[in-house]
Amino acid sequence: MAGRVAGRVALVTGASSGLGKRFAQVLAAEGAKVIVAARRKDRLDDLVEEIGASNCLAVQCDVTDEAQVVAMYDAAETKFGLVDTVINNAGMTHANNAVTQDIAEFRKIMDLNVTSVWCVAREAARRLIKAGPENSHNGRIVNIASMAGRIVILNVTAYNTSKAACAHLTRSLAREWARYGINVNALSPGYVATELTEEWLNGEGGAKAIGKSPRRRIMDETSLDEALLFLCSDAAKYVTGTDVLVDDAQSMG
Ligand SMILES: NC(=O)c1ccc[n+]([C@@H]2O[C@H](COP(=O)([O-])OP(=O)(O)OC[C@H]3O[C@@H](n4cnc5c(N)ncnc54)[C@H](OP(=O)(O)O)[C@@H]3O)[C@@H](O)[C@H]2O)c1
Repeated sequence: MAGRVAGRVALVTGASSGLGKRFAQVLAAEGAKVIVAARRKDRLDDLVEEIGASNCLAVQCDVTDEAQVVAMYDAAETKFGLVDTVINNAGMTHANNAVTQDIAEFRKIMDLNVTSVWCVAREAARRLIKAGPENSHNGRIVNIASMAGRIVILNVTAYNTSKAACAHLTRSLAREWARYGINVNALSPGYVATELTEEWLNGEGGAKAIGKSPRRRIMDETSLDEALLFLCSDAAKYVTGTDVLVDDAQSMG
């Protein structure tokens, strides 16, 4: 049986670790050609080796740099053709609260978690629209937001704000690009142990968060697979502008 995303050319940003790496593995296993992007090229090369070079391409890219984003799509097109699926996953958080944080760090968070999400989506949309309706109607953009965009996680104000912006950016782009058939959705995870969260989850803050969550647990790396595949597949043809929350009820704690 063909995979659920067979024939798709999928770009995953932030694929050198954590959720992005998992998303690339899942999309490849379901038949997509995948372009994995991040700054740490050695890690991407390991992923290409694991998935296989005929189905996976590594592109070193800092997604906050517009020229590198354009070059990333050029490289992807040269190897696999038009990118029709984008997982806008690269993101970061911070240790400073709103009083101790300086303006440079606040801007850095917004630049990566919001501006680069728009920039990466815009480049995909430009190319899909230029390629005409028979191509653009397959367009799928999935922006990785967070339950932090819906609730307040204490002491990460910049992060919370950026993820709320990411969700509303998603709705705005979905509205603008509906006429081209490009679907834009957000996927909002609860806590999953990754490099981003591991230290915090193992500390006092994490223990409190887990203690408060209704099921007293964090999610494992497989927890987002099905939601991701749904949003990227033909099954989501009529789904656009949504924010799918997959958080095991953590945000209700
Ligand atoms: N883990 C969770 O509990 C959780 C919950 C909700 C939402 N999320 C969201 O899920 C996404 C992935 O997080 P994660 O937990 O998997 O964290 P992670 O393991 O730290 O991964 C973050 C990824 O982003 C990449 N990245 C950072 N800055 C970049 C830049 N300027 N250009 C290109 N890539 C960049 C990193 O790669 P390089 O350093 O190699 O560039 C890395 O691959 C983030 O958007 C995060 O906010 C995570």
